[in-house]
Amino acid sequence: MLISFEGIDGSGKSTQVQRLVQRLQAEGHDPLVVREPGGTPISERIRTLLLDESSDIVPKAELLLFSAARAQLVEQRIRPALAAGRLVVCDRFYDSSTAYQGGGRALFDEDWLEDFHRHVTGGLTPHRTYWLALPPDAARARRAHTPDRMEAAANGFQARVAAAYERLAQRHPARIKRLDATRPPEALHKAIWRDVCALLAR
Ligand code: TYD
Repeated sequence: MLISFEGIDGSGKSTQVQRLVQRLQAEGHDPLVVREPGGTPISERIRTLLLDESSDIVPKAELLLFSAARAQLVEQRIRPALAAGRLVVCDRFYDSSTAYQGGGRALFDEDWLEDFHRHVTGGLTPHRTYWLALPPDAARARRAHTPDRMEAAANGFQARVAAAYERLAQRHPARIKRLDATRPPEALHKAIWRDVCALLAR
């Protein structure tokens, strides 16, 4: 089973990934945990390029680089783990490209992007996606570190990304579960855990 987490920068996604993974391990599972972009030597190198403030990357190259990192990750790590019966937890997956490169950059048609992701991943779709929905202002206030290249993008970028997540959730209501990320982390974890248990019991 493949589970992904999505949300704008500062939505608390990575905390929830950690909490879920600890809980799964405590219950005797051995999940593979990966973050995008990253997770393989090539993908980590691509990540460095993508997040480096000094990189002058045109939007088409940006989409292709995120996708290249994803293709490596799917083939080298995710598919083998799934084939071995392991649960896979992804901190971001292709919905991030639809939201950031499609919505944020506002240069790619979202239908076309979804088709493109199918080619990149060989049709691999998360069984469940937890979307930590948070207004961009609240997310900005939470961020403590210096912004990376994506976070530093022009005004309105994060708002367009957030709007694209809204559209995605409407488009895939059975897969994408919207969680109000203003709720306390413990309450969010409980809701996620309840849902994961139901998925595992299927
Ligand atoms: P990261 O530091 O991992 O951010 P976060 O903790 O919010 O996940 O940086 C990843 C950045 O890359 C983040 O700003 C989202 C962006 N991104 C895309 O623009 N497209 C993508 O396909 C992916 C996977 C990430």
